[in-house]
Amino acid sequence: MSNSQAPRGQRCVVTGAAGFIGSHVVDRLLADGHEVVGVDCFTDYYPRPIKERNLKRALANPRFRLAEADLRDAELAPILEGADILIHEAAMGGLRRSWTEFETYLSCNVLATQRLLDAARSVGVGNMVHVSTSSVYGRESSGDETRPTRPDSPYGVTKLAAENLVLAYHRNFDLPVTVLRYFSIFGPRQRPDMGYTIFIERILRGEEITIDGDGTQTRGNTYIDDCVEATVRVAYAGPTGEVFNIGGGEVVSALDVVRMIERITGREARLRFGPPRAGEQAHALADTSKARARFDWEPSSSVEAGLRAQVAWIQERLALPAVPGVAEERSS
Ligand SMILES: NC(=O)c1ccc[n+]([C@@H]2O[C@H](COP(=O)([O-])OP(=O)(O)OC[C@H]3O[C@@H](n4cnc5c(N)ncnc54)[C@H](O)[C@@H]3O)[C@@H](O)[C@H]2O)c1
Repeated sequence: MSNSQAPRGQRCVVTGAAGFIGSHVVDRLLADGHEVVGVDCFTDYYPRPIKERNLKRALANPRFRLAEADLRDAELAPILEGADILIHEAAMGGLRRSWTEFETYLSCNVLATQRLLDAARSVGVGNMVHVSTSSVYGRESSGDETRPTRPDSPYGVTKLAAENLVLAYHRNFDLPVTVLRYFSIFGPRQRPDMGYTIFIERILRGEEITIDGDGTQTRGNTYIDDCVEATVRVAYAGPTGEVFNIGGGEVVSALDVVRMIERITGREARLRFGPPRAGEQAHALADTSKARARFDWEPSSSVEAGLRAQVAWIQERLALPAVPGVAEERSS
């Protein structure tokens, strides 16, 4: 899907620019002809070289500048000065560590957001897209934006606090914002702690995979290109003060995904089943009618096509021999 309404030459700031999703958003904004400042402090959630690699293409572009800064203590107003678009991707992701490192989640997801909002307000940022998650809904996350929020993990609690803070700044100070709730994103550059990356790496290496629970948990995963398309469309459309679900339309279970990766790679997975992960969603399928109606956006990638791109990317990263028939990486 192309976005004919994309303005050119905007000044954009992307937080979490070195991360999985942030780096793709940066690449897309640069491809659309904008000036981009990427903010990231390279948290130790996963190794810095992976994040540097995510930014490789952007760093070669003269319209990109990296501001290595921690949103929790850096002076943010000078970074945001003159920004037409602010896309706030930075956060501590993942459920598991949020049970044991709550202070880091609280500071990176809530305090950092509050500091960013204050700075955005003080310099008068043109439009802000705040990135939230389906984890704000809790164990059962399928439905539309009217579904009650009942996060079931410290991660989800901090992300819900952050989006409420964003909306409070909108209501009280007219801060121009839109909140997006992403539903499990996958594809090239997916974080090393995320399920599909782990499944693919282990299947390619012939290592055992531990499935959390019985593998029947389902997702309407979102391919990274669909996620980026939604994010920039919303950024270009201007503020709404509202919340939108962003998700893929195809439901698959964890076991379905393992079987697809087996088909793509031609290798058999060695599975064992562990206890369910505390705070994990049982089912998460986004009703995206609102985003479709408002932004003329809809997800267009199939899970299988997206997995092929992710397999190709992981093979290249691990310097493994290519699997015949696997598509070239599409996104990075
Ligand atoms: N990956 C998914 O499936 C998914 C699903 C729903 C929502 N989200 C949200 O999307 C956003 C991006 O997630 P991701 O998967 O790309 O994660 P990621 O960990 O790959 O990227 C996040 C980046 O933010 C940076 N960061 C964190 N705290 C920071 C701080 N205090 N100051 C500066 N930089 C900081 C990290 O160094 C990292 O590079 C997050 O807000 C996450 O909650 C992701």
